[in-house]
Amino acid sequence: MTDKVALAFSGGLDTTVCVPLLKEEYGYDEVVAVTVDVGQPADEFTEAQETADALGLDIHVVDAKEEFASLALDAVRANATYQGYPLGTALARPVIASAILSIAEEESCTGIAHGCTGKGNDQLRFEAVWRDSDLEVIAPVRELGLTREWEKEYAAERDLPVEGGSGGDYSIDTNLWSRSVEGKELEEPSHVPGEEIYEWTDAPGGETEEITIEFEQGYPVALNGEALAPVELIETLNDLAGSYGVGRTDAMEDRMLGLKVRENYEHPAATTLLDAHAGLEDLVLTKEERSFKTTVDDEWAEKGYQGLVDGPLMGALDAFIAETNERVTGTVTVRFEGGQARVVGRESPYAVYSAEAASFNTEDVSGGIEQADATGVAKYHGFQERLANHTIEAAKQSEGVTATDGGAAEDTPKRPALGEESPLSGTDVDETADEWEEQ
Ligand code: ARG
Repeated sequence: MTDKVALAFSGGLDTTVCVPLLKEEYGYDEVVAVTVDVGQPADEFTEAQETADALGLDIHVVDAKEEFASLALDAVRANATYQGYPLGTALARPVIASAILSIAEEESCTGIAHGCTGKGNDQLRFEAVWRDSDLEVIAPVRELGLTREWEKEYAAERDLPVEGGSGGDYSIDTNLWSRSVEGKELEEPSHVPGEEIYEWTDAPGGETEEITIEFEQGYPVALNGEALAPVELIETLNDLAGSYGVGRTDAMEDRMLGLKVRENYEHPAATTLLDAHAGLEDLVLTKEERSFKTTVDDEWAEKGYQGLVDGPLMGALDAFIAETNERVTGTVTVRFEGGQARVVGRESPYAVYSAEAASFNTEDVSGGIEQADATGVAKYHGFQERLANHTIEAAKQSEGVTATDGGAAEDTPKRPALGEESPLSGTDVDETADEWEEQ
């Protein structure tokens, strides 16, 4: 029986050198290359195919775009970003890993391999999925301690088909949700990137455009009144918002292993959908829901970044998000302007908003509440702060007196006696407040 190993294959330098290494160093007879489509540009597939042909390798191409797009839209409901980055690479990894595992099992492989280094996040995200199987998990680049220079020399010696690719020596990862660029001069955080690193976004200019996005239960379903399926919606918005320079992030990112790295990202559709969704939540959620949801959202983003989208915590977070987003239905108007996707209008049948109540032109609030009812609230508002400030001031003064008296230093400041100058005396809070101000 031949020993087969499934390899996450992109046709790039790392995964290309893995092909002979899996045979020579790990003793496998056959490499089953798998490329998973999560919305990479077409030339990446051509490149992968050409490299595979030159290596005499068959590649399995698995289309996971829809599955990935649906996870990306879950991320929209969770307002998910990690240190400013909408998680394109991170969320794609579990989807890719599962697709490769399925092929590995179908093909009766005994091993499964990736070309990630030992410094990044992707090794962890892939292996979190793969280590649930009985397959031997192999990471040649990490295990053999390979550098890019070594890989280039090795490829040249073996006449392996590697080309620079469109991005030269940058390390680029592109999918439906984001494009990331690392490496070369960008590794120096003070280096200001040139326009040439951007492919999805034009430099923001003076032009503006307004669009509408319709949401149903927190999911975007239509653009300018036209219903679009998730993949199409994301692709259309990447083009449109990208032409206005929307969705650039230059981040100092804290990786899971603790390394801090400089990352540049482009994500026009993600920025537009995240901003629009947040704008609609602002209209329909209560203050309490909004404030608690930021905690849930942060946790979702953290798990998303770690590539752990299938655990019980994520399920519970999703349940909270689904419950609150049941009412996140409506239409948001977004203006592309100055490189931003700015929410400029929103409407929903579930708006927690009463124009009549908030208006400057109506006397009463609603439900029998009159403006004058706020007087009592206004009297109490800030009461504890005033009380605390007064107490502190009085304690300081009495300490000063003790010190000039030459008396022994006291550990505990004296509390002011409950008397006329005490904020607790008297019934008229307003008057007492005036007295303090006069002091
Ligand atoms: N730092 C990001 C992440 O871990 C993206 C890394 C993308 N890789 C690349 N070679 N540019 O999710």
